[in-house]
Amino acid sequence: MTTETAPSAWTPASWRERPALQQPDWPDEAALAEVLARLSTLHPLVFAGEVRDLTSSLGSVAAGEAFLLQAGDCAEAFDDFSAEAIRDKLKIILQMAVILTYAGGLPVVKVGRIAGQFAKPRSAQRERIGERELPVFRGHAVNDPIFDERSRRPDPQRLLRAYQQAASTLNLIRAFTKGGFADLREIHSWNQAFVASSNEGRRYEALAQEIDRALRFMQACGVDLGGGSSIHEVDLYTSHEALLLGFEEALTRRETGSDETYCCSAHMLWVGERTRQLDGAHVEFLSGVANPVACKLGPSATVDEVLGLCERLDPDGEPGRLTFIARMGAEHVEEVLPPLLRAVSDAGRQVVWACDPMHGNTFLTPAGRKTRRFDDIVAEMKGFFAAHEQGGTIPGGIHVEFTHQAVTECLGGAEEILDGDLGAGYRALCDPRLNARQSLDLAFDLSGMLPRG
Ligand code: PEP
Ligand code: CO
Repeated sequence: MTTETAPSAWTPASWRERPALQQPDWPDEAALAEVLARLSTLHPLVFAGEVRDLTSSLGSVAAGEAFLLQAGDCAEAFDDFSAEAIRDKLKIILQMAVILTYAGGLPVVKVGRIAGQFAKPRSAQRERIGERELPVFRGHAVNDPIFDERSRRPDPQRLLRAYQQAASTLNLIRAFTKGGFADLREIHSWNQAFVASSNEGRRYEALAQEIDRALRFMQACGVDLGGGSSIHEVDLYTSHEALLLGFEEALTRRETGSDETYCCSAHMLWVGERTRQLDGAHVEFLSGVANPVACKLGPSATVDEVLGLCERLDPDGEPGRLTFIARMGAEHVEEVLPPLLRAVSDAGRQVVWACDPMHGNTFLTPAGRKTRRFDDIVAEMKGFFAAHEQGGTIPGGIHVEFTHQAVTECLGGAEEILDGDLGAGYRALCDPRLNARQSLDLAFDLSGMLPRG
């Protein structure tokens, strides 16, 4: 007999019995409890049927019959929210998806880092500027980046605001994706004015014209492109890092009529590189929800950890349930990824493997700005594809951080942003993002790596 106590059965609250890293130091527990109680009475942001559709689409990705494009902001902001901003982000996702669909000949499953990406894990608990030290900025769901005592104090009311902004964002996403804007016949209008005159904008326009011609050809051949056709609307699913577990728990609902419990804050949730401990609270929470889940894997991930994560997060081997998002760094990917791919495939598991070429390639400039080199981002994608080629496994998708704005946060790309340019348009709240032109550039580079369908 063993003296160890068996872990109790999963419930939306069972994560509370485990160590939860990266949680804010909420100054007023009673105020937090009140907000969480209120959140638990609010309506779900996403619905079980939609979530199941995503799992099924990700199952196709795992089988090599579709490609995953997961993209959006590193951290969404309360003060940068408008219908125009959502529409412009959607434009980029649609453009990237079209480029990839055309090149790969496969459906692209579109998942935004959007409508809930408001909380950030941080490497340090506190930030020092000069003589002053304050709690670090943890995302708009927790506190404000302004460096003063009041702004940095975690405020649970922000969780309600995050919920409301996520609801409004989803409302806009549903309108834009189903209301005609995402119709493939609108393909030209997705090119933003400031992108259209650039090389990558022109390259996109040429592709859009080819697609136009193909549509006219199909119509002329009698193919019905009428109301029921899937070219008129798209599915854009939502995702974020499930970091603030109280918030996620409060939005978890049991589906009436089934035995399934869904976390209704987003279609897909992931656990980050800093919180993926096998016996930790984050893995515990995600293990019990019926959503598709993902886990980031950095260069220190071991075979045992990865197999343990398969066991914890996808015990039944359900296609589409588990995505591993490798973020190894361009330097390491070809060395550290192959043994993990091999171990998972030898264990008979079919997961989605996605490449996050952003988070393993971040560094500080001499001026102290976080940046990433476009060339490193492309190099990591190449390494990811090479690792899959070598092991005979399936490179399922890509996970990137971009913004629709003409920022200068990542170095390089066709517009050759240099070190000295970063100051001009650096607006990142957290990590440096690709701008609109760099995002198209990346999609074209990636399209050259895809096996042609
Ligand atoms: C992120 O996706 O913004 C992030 C913090 O990633 P990671 O957990 O991979 O560091
Ligand atoms: Co980030």
